[in-house]
Amino acid sequence: MTMNAVAKMPKTAKERGKVAPAKLAHVVLRTPPERAKTVLDWYKVVLEGEAMFETDAFGFVTYDDEHHRVAVLGFPGLKEHVDGHAGMHHMAFTYENLGDLMHTYERLRDEHDIKPEFCINHGPTTSMYYFDPDKNQVELQVDNIPVEQFAEYFDNGEFTENPIGIKFDPDELSARLKAGEDEKSLLQRPDGIPPDLSEFPAN
Ligand SMILES: [Fe+2]
Repeated sequence: MTMNAVAKMPKTAKERGKVAPAKLAHVVLRTPPERAKTVLDWYKVVLEGEAMFETDAFGFVTYDDEHHRVAVLGFPGLKEHVDGHAGMHHMAFTYENLGDLMHTYERLRDEHDIKPEFCINHGPTTSMYYFDPDKNQVELQVDNIPVEQFAEYFDNGEFTENPIGIKFDPDELSARLKAGEDEKSLLQRPDGIPPDLSEFPAN
């Protein structure tokens, strides 16, 4: 891996005078028709979304002002997921703050028995990786650093030294937050040894 030790937040395409998409709109997943409802419900539960339209075979999930962020389509004749294929690795959703992320972690754990496969403080983000029922990987995360300080962060050497992160125990993190520890300090990546890439959940 080659690391670029100089970081900067590039100007937006618009600021550079380019015509680019206004936003990232949605992700569409296909699944065997008999599993469409299960997958749709999983996204509704995880994202606190509602279907703006759904049938037994497909649906559109929304949780904000976008009419659909995730759509699920039942497709006949699909092969099941196989690990290690080129293509999308995961999709990620960012929470407002660590409290919201921990609230979501506990809600999914306690009310739905949905638990993360892997939790890691990457440095720039605190990230929890889940598998949906088809083994698509979904990251729920929070930014550890205000966006205007990201470039500065990437220059401070921490990320160059360890671009992977340090694993964390979500129960411990949530307990420390509840005990009143400062959110900003809990978001700081602790010292430690990064996990081997083989420890990341395979998909
Ligand atoms: Fe990510």
